[in-house]
Amino acid sequence: MDTRPNLVLVGFMGSGKSSVGRLAAADLGLRFVDLDHEIEQREGATITRIFETCGEEEFRRIESKVATEVAERRGQVIATGGGIVLRPVNLERLGVAGVIVHLHVTPECAWARARGHGHRPLVAGPDGEARLRELFAKRQPLYDAIPLSVEGSNRPPRAVAADVVRVYRRRVDAGGSGIRA
Ligand code: S3P
Repeated sequence: MDTRPNLVLVGFMGSGKSSVGRLAAADLGLRFVDLDHEIEQREGATITRIFETCGEEEFRRIESKVATEVAERRGQVIATGGGIVLRPVNLERLGVAGVIVHLHVTPECAWARARGHGHRPLVAGPDGEARLRELFAKRQPLYDAIPLSVEGSNRPPRAVAADVVRVYRRRVDAGGSGIRA
């Protein structure tokens, strides 16, 4: 069993959590877990469908439950959904056996990447860009509160992943497991 701390990627939609996470996982030899994908598997429904049928509150409840379960295992790179920061308890749990790294992205880059993707009901439709900017402004303080951060805008995923891996290794070498800050 892999007992290494998890690497937890947190950031706004389109920050590159999944693509960077996959590369970092391959590099570190850790298992890659995408929280949105886990939710879809367990619920047997797409993220969009869950939002449509149950609403955002219920989605957040499911997201917390799945995050709690995934956080109990080790040896993983976990790509979270952009809204994971909305419930502080999520980061507390994911940080118990994990190094949390914020992938920073500009709103312009986030929109260029997030538009037209099916699992982002919060920014779907004609006023998607305006809603994305609104969400971005509201959430920025939550992301900024994460002490470890890597720039994810306008850079190839490989370069971002290399930085993330460096940050993770440095943190683990410095303090063992169970590190959030
Ligand atoms: C959300 C981000 C999405 C997905 C859902 C809600 C958010 O994940 O969890 O649409 O609230 O920011 P990504 O960050 O992978 O796009």
